[in-house]
Amino acid sequence: MIIAIDGPAGSGKSTIAKKLAEELDFVYLDTGAMYRLVTLKALNEKVSFNLLKNIINLSESKNNNSDFEIIQNMKKILENLNIDIKKNRFFLDEIDVSDEIRKPVISENVSNIAKIKEVREKLVDLQRKFSKSENVILDGRDIGTVVFPNAELKIFLMADAMERAKRRYKELVLKNEDVTLDEIYKNIVERDKIDSTRKESPLVKAQDAVEIDTTFKTIEEVKEEIEKILKNKIK
Ligand code: CDP
Ligand code: CDP
Repeated sequence: MIIAIDGPAGSGKSTIAKKLAEELDFVYLDTGAMYRLVTLKALNEKVSFNLLKNIINLSESKNNNSDFEIIQNMKKILENLNIDIKKNRFFLDEIDVSDEIRKPVISENVSNIAKIKEVREKLVDLQRKFSKSENVILDGRDIGTVVFPNAELKIFLMADAMERAKRRYKELVLKNEDVTLDEIYKNIVERDKIDSTRKESPLVKAQDAVEIDTTFKTIEEVKEEIEKILKNKIK
């Protein structure tokens, strides 16, 4: 069985998916973390590939030589990609980078990496392979629309952007990150925009997904609501 949870940053996807997976004894896959791992890899290699600046300016509408070069470089990165997920810890080239991939610099670049077609093809393929023989809950942006359009249950979480920014801000302050609420808010709004307007697999609610607005709801309330929907489905 596949449960797909999609929605924008800070809507509560990963917290709720993790709890649901524990209760239902499902495996949980955080697909956003996979895009973050590729972003970290691309940023790490910017010295040899000089990618960073180009990727930030990459636009799908342009198709010139420099785009071609970027895609070739990105393909090299993807060919040599060595990522692993064990017990909700994330590894890049055998190194545990679970904390590093949550840093603001990754959040600032990830949506520009995630809009590259070759990146999406590679990660969607890995996500499908990962989910082959298990009951899995996946969270992301395109799970119910592209990765598993036949998922048995599709949930679309959303919440007011300022509320989402406040949630993220609280987490980062606890980790002693030097950020302001305004910076987080701007990043969330920017990512919403890039993620929902990109050509490849944009963030949209699948027609058959159940939408839940989490702005004024606790994690427990949202979790219970999803459990109820699930019970009704499998009755
Ligand atoms: O945790 P947060 O909601 O901030 O973001 P995330 O789930 O870690 O995802 C980071 C970024 O990866 C998103 O802003 C998207 O650009 C991209 N992403 C995607 O394109 N498709 C997915 N299935 C998951 C994430
Ligand atoms: O995965 P996504 O980016 O959608 O959100 P998350 O990382 O699960 O949630 C972001 C933060 O909001 C976490 O610290 C959650 O504990 C918190 N949260 C909340 O306070 N109330 C909710 N209804 C959902 C999430």
